[in-house]
Amino acid sequence: MAIRAFAESGGLDRLRAKGWASAEELLDGASAEVGRGFLTYLRVSGVLDEWDGRFRLTPRGTLLTSEISLARVGFYVEAYGPVTRRMGDLLTGRATYGQDVVRAGGPLSRHSGAVTAVSYVGLVAEALAGRQPRSVLDLGCGDGSLLIRLCALHPELSVVGIDISPDAVEAARSNSRQAGLEGRAVFEVADAFSPDTWPRSASDADAVIGVGVLHELFRDGEDAVIAILDRLAETLTDGQVFLLGEPELRYDNRANDSDFFLVHVLTNQGTPRDRTAWLNVFRKSRLTCERVFTNAVAGPRTCFYELSARGAA
Ligand SMILES: C[S@@+](CC[C@H](N)C(=O)[O-])C[C@H]1O[C@@H](n2cnc3c(N)ncnc32)[C@H](O)[C@@H]1O
Repeated sequence: MAIRAFAESGGLDRLRAKGWASAEELLDGASAEVGRGFLTYLRVSGVLDEWDGRFRLTPRGTLLTSEISLARVGFYVEAYGPVTRRMGDLLTGRATYGQDVVRAGGPLSRHSGAVTAVSYVGLVAEALAGRQPRSVLDLGCGDGSLLIRLCALHPELSVVGIDISPDAVEAARSNSRQAGLEGRAVFEVADAFSPDTWPRSASDADAVIGVGVLHELFRDGEDAVIAILDRLAETLTDGQVFLLGEPELRYDNRANDSDFFLVHVLTNQGTPRDRTAWLNVFRKSRLTCERVFTNAVAGPRTCFYELSARGAA
């Protein structure tokens, strides 16, 4: 929370710009008394070094304030903060997720987007290379980061993103406008698990992606996930691909597994599974897993499965 506050207050940007900065420069506009104590806290926590009245980031502070670190902290503190703050009420039944408590859709899409864009765009581009899709559909597109970066890599590509969160779709539209993608990118509120709600442009897609969304449907049981995979199998024709990216919970706590697990429990989501469990799910569906991609990154360890309709590839 302190690192997020330091970033939000503008102090982090001012420090990055100068390398070394005085308390006055860092605390521009902040209450002097709180601000000085706050800087002392960051120094004692090993985030800042202080020398001769000036501050700089320590190596640990540099890592903790990287784009990915801030996004990961934002995921738990900002996106799931409204949920974890009511943990006691959720535990005792005084509050129910979905009625009294919801995660923050806008921050969820923004922070997930930052992690996905930095960590996985190259991997997705590699998986799609050779297929040269003209149109890509992203199920649970969040703030559109992945599609927008794919468009930058492939000037001929058009994209359709759907998400259940209106805040996420609004962010995706705004990001795509800023990237100058009018006419190439469509973002709509729709339910990834109900193809009847998808916009008509979705049917033009010759590649489908879904990153970090399908595991949520395990809350309705494995058969519900298999049903949506089978539905996609009906729509994929020769050479078309569904690239499913799913975070793996490995219960070794190296990538905040315990926190990742807890936020899924509190929000009644299905629990993410590892690749062995997903491969068993694919076997029961009409999709075949052709390849598995992964890379070592910070954050939820996401595995990508390249799926094609049985007999169609
Ligand atoms: C962990 S985020 C991943 C976002 C994005 N795919 C990424 O990798 O950055 C999960 C996203 O799935 C969306 N989502 C959850 N259930 C959905 C549903 N039934 N239909 C469409 N989107 C859904 C959420 O709103 C959220 O934006």
